[in-house]
Amino acid sequence: MPDISRRELLVAGLAISGTTLFARSAWGAAVAHMTESAQAESAEFAAAIAPREHLLFDFGWRFTFGHGSDPAEDLGFGYGQGDFAKTGDFKFAKAGFDDSKWRALDLPHDWAVELPFVHDDEQKSHGYKPLGRRYPETSVGWYRREFEVPASDAGRRVSVEFDGAFRDVIIFVNGCFVGRNNNGYAPFRFDISDFLAIGARNYIVVRVDASFGDGWFYEGAGIYRHVWLTKTDSLHLGSWESFVRSEQTEKGARLTLGTLVMNEGRRAENAKLSWKVVDSAGKVVATAEAPAQSIAPDGSASITASAELSSPAMWSVEEPNLYSAIVTVESDGKARDAERVNFGIRTAVFDAEKGFALNGKAMKIQGTCNHQDHAGVGAALPDRLQWYRVGVLRAMGCNSIRTSHNMPTPELVEACDRMGMTMMCETRQMSSNPEGLAQLETMIKRYRNSPSIILWSVGNEEFLLQDEMAEEGEKIAATMVARCHELDPTRVVSAAVNGGNRKGVSLAFDIVGFNYNLKLPDAYHKDNPKRAIYGSETASAISTRGVYSTDPLRNVLSAYDTNQPGWGETAEDWWTFYGTREWEAGGYAWTGFDYRGEPTPYGWPSINSQFGISDMCGFPKDTYYYYKAWWRNEPSLHLFPHWNFEGKEGEEIPVWVHSNLEEVELLVNGRSLGSQKVPHLGHVEWKVKYEAGSIEARGSRGGKVVLTEKRETTGATVAIRLTADRSEINADGEDVAVLTVEALDKDGRAVPTASNHIGFKVAGEGALIGVGNGDPNCQESDKEPKRSLFNGLAQVIVKASKVPGEIHIEASKEGWDGPELTPAKIVITTKKVELRPSVPVIRNRQS
Ligand code: GAL
Repeated sequence: MPDISRRELLVAGLAISGTTLFARSAWGAAVAHMTESAQAESAEFAAAIAPREHLLFDFGWRFTFGHGSDPAEDLGFGYGQGDFAKTGDFKFAKAGFDDSKWRALDLPHDWAVELPFVHDDEQKSHGYKPLGRRYPETSVGWYRREFEVPASDAGRRVSVEFDGAFRDVIIFVNGCFVGRNNNGYAPFRFDISDFLAIGARNYIVVRVDASFGDGWFYEGAGIYRHVWLTKTDSLHLGSWESFVRSEQTEKGARLTLGTLVMNEGRRAENAKLSWKVVDSAGKVVATAEAPAQSIAPDGSASITASAELSSPAMWSVEEPNLYSAIVTVESDGKARDAERVNFGIRTAVFDAEKGFALNGKAMKIQGTCNHQDHAGVGAALPDRLQWYRVGVLRAMGCNSIRTSHNMPTPELVEACDRMGMTMMCETRQMSSNPEGLAQLETMIKRYRNSPSIILWSVGNEEFLLQDEMAEEGEKIAATMVARCHELDPTRVVSAAVNGGNRKGVSLAFDIVGFNYNLKLPDAYHKDNPKRAIYGSETASAISTRGVYSTDPLRNVLSAYDTNQPGWGETAEDWWTFYGTREWEAGGYAWTGFDYRGEPTPYGWPSINSQFGISDMCGFPKDTYYYYKAWWRNEPSLHLFPHWNFEGKEGEEIPVWVHSNLEEVELLVNGRSLGSQKVPHLGHVEWKVKYEAGSIEARGSRGGKVVLTEKRETTGATVAIRLTADRSEINADGEDVAVLTVEALDKDGRAVPTASNHIGFKVAGEGALIGVGNGDPNCQESDKEPKRSLFNGLAQVIVKASKVPGEIHIEASKEGWDGPELTPAKIVITTKKVELRPSVPVIRNRQS
């Protein structure tokens, strides 16, 4: 991880120590800047791809629950035999159907996060949400939207494209059945041109059935990613078919540019392809053309060309330089379709002796595995939250994300491309059946141009395929690997394997992933010196933020780095192993963030996991600073616990420091308890008899104090503090501000043990979309405008409307209990920006 200057940290709001670190801003201004430049680019590029319209289809939907077993409660769907008998007959997807009582909402939407918790141990992995065949009333949702198709769309191809929905989806347009999708993570699209009424009102209805899951963790429910309407000429580029591959040459890079042209028109077309390669400043740095080719009606052609770039700006973790290739297909002297493909130039090599290298430079993978849900919003994250989360990880020194155990949303990949975060990109179903291969193929085509992705993963912990069905496992994996290589010859393929690496699936992989089992890699490396190895999943260390003694009666775990389940390792255990072997490429800790479900080692009332290095909101737990100390280069020092142990006077409290400095001295109320040398990749600790006041750590290098940190016993809570990650956001109906809520004592110090109930009022040009506090046992609503603090912190997420102005957020004491608190107010400005092109919402429509 590169050193990031203090100035940069200050800009990002990260140079502030203690619990307010992320209160001020996670990557704040730095990310804001990056988001803006991405947007400015979009406007510029929109002109270049003018023949195509790619419209956001998120706004203005209606939603209602259906029913998983009673057709009468499911819009009559499946009541008799004949639903699919005649085309055009689904009344709910036609004019005259009354959806006025359905709830109005914008996508993305996850209805699971809105449901109450149920005490049903079968639902434990899903975070105790009532989803599944035993919960038919809350497992099926219907979405409906009316939209106009202008007369100018006559003759165009129109597709509806979903970035992902959970899970079994059936789509109807104007009464016609259009298609299905049966997995929760891969994007899918349908050409609906033939079903559209041109120059008229159209109706789309999507039935989403979350009765079946794909995994063993919280997966959400509904259309939880973006939807798009794409309009092209009948001569057009194939979806996710355009690619750019780069190869290093003496002078720079040779680009192979490829695409698929499809002719869905009625006559042959003479298609000429051209590419413009543009650098991040918008300058055209290379062009390429392919000779014109005749394409018959209903025909298609794969077309490639090449271009040279001299001294390209490489993509790296430190400098995520991106290029774009604009590919245009022309016929009859007219641009008919065009597309922009972002890519980066870099080499990513896994070596059996030297580990991983990016652009020829050794880079230990300091990775985290992550699920996709966040506090308040479940699986339906606004794009900005992806950047927020990548920022939290990056500030810890994490340089790689494993998208366990499913393909990610495009915005996460884009955030990684733009922020300099590498990625192990994983598909959900490890199978060479048509569904498994289709998911894999979609993932690779969709993301193969992203420089952040250094490694494809075809699955996780398929125990049967590793052992009992080892032979089948090897065949299945080999088919998947071959498909990956065919679609993307530039990247290696692997999977996360728990034990059993010497037979079954592992035999088929380019590089070998080890989940846990620190006893295995040394012997494996000795016996297989030519196989590159990395830790596909490690740690599973468990802790509760701000808790300093494990209490099974309260379902909490101490935040010292001492807890792990039988199969897991502490942070220090796994990193002293992976961090000290040159041939180990590095590894991915389970997990960067807590997630809903899997509340190991507890059950009800715990509703989320405790594996996170940060909690559900992204508030760092103490172990975050272990990684920060050893994953980043600049001096780092973190002292814990807090010093509020009223009633424990005279009892011994373990005091730890995570630091990469040479020596740390500890003072209690000004008295030195002596210095300790910090072991490489370790930590230092003292046992301190508690007395109110303060503890202070002084970290030194070469005999000079470099960093100090203090924890003070605070007084009672008297006031609330609200801080925002950004004070200005975009008035685009999508952007969010992430607010941190704290309670202060009379001296303005944040009280680390505060548990006050706080209520929120949001007025002006924005709305509250979710709240959280990182407490794995908190069953308060994610959606109501109130939340209790958990060990001093809560989070509120507010989303801007499309009208520039101000969002006023007020936090005050909620309910009658507890001490009086002075309320806090904060104003977020929402600024005018060019809106992404979207499908117009029909206002005041007649049903
Ligand atoms: C792993 C598994 C993860 C998660 C983790 C919890 O074995 O791959 O999905 O369940 O255990 O420790």
